[in-house]
Amino acid sequence: MDVNEAIERRRSVRQFRPDRIPLEDIKELVRLAGLAPSINNAQLWKFVAILNQEVIDEMSNIVNRKISGLLNNGAEKKGEKIKTTVAHFSTVFTDAPAVIAVQMKPYDAVVDPILESSGLSHDEMNKMRNYPDVQSIGAAIENIMLAATGMGYGCCWLTGLLVAREELEPLLGIKAPYRLAACIAVGKPLESLPAREKLPLESIFEVIE
Ligand SMILES: Cc1cc2nc3c(=O)[nH]c(=O)nc-3n(C[C@H](O)[C@H](O)[C@H](O)COP(=O)(O)O)c2cc1C
Repeated sequence: MDVNEAIERRRSVRQFRPDRIPLEDIKELVRLAGLAPSINNAQLWKFVAILNQEVIDEMSNIVNRKISGLLNNGAEKKGEKIKTTVAHFSTVFTDAPAVIAVQMKPYDAVVDPILESSGLSHDEMNKMRNYPDVQSIGAAIENIMLAATGMGYGCCWLTGLLVAREELEPLLGIKAPYRLAACIAVGKPLESLPAREKLPLESIFEVIE
């Protein structure tokens, strides 16, 4: 499958067949993630593949507990429905045979010490540059999603579970200066999904000639 076809075919997959993924395939996905562009080639990423169902279940429990605690206004019907929806979309990885946790460390640009002396904090400088660290991680994640599509897998990019980032990090062995940036659920799709509606080209594109 060429890259354009993988882009066309990729869909967020949230229901998976239970088939195990060979470790070699996971390694290939991560190798391709590592080829992504990153700010100043800083490669601020590291990846942990979770293939153990008990650990995946524990991740799911942690996220569900956190969401229940955060949205504890279940007395109202509407609140309960929102809570169920949030919990669902934050734990769609539960039935995936593999979850890839993406870690990210902070980026320090060469110019940072000079900017620091003008009173800007690391976070302010990162914001000013529109989060090149996070943008770099996104490129690596998209590499995984497209490569996985090309290999016949389905994926879902996950940030909903980050509500429980601090509780998940020790379970996954993630230590400072790294932090959990996102996860990707990977597996063979349970069913083939129709294309999602996307904005027409005319509404997202302008030309300056
Ligand atoms: C940064 C990011 C975070 C996302 N987080 C979640 C998530 O936590 N749970 C989920 O079910 N989908 C998540 N998604 C998937 C989006 O909902 C999905 O990409 C979107 O609905 C478009 O559908 P498509 O991927 O099939 O084109 C995330 C996507 C991105 C790019």
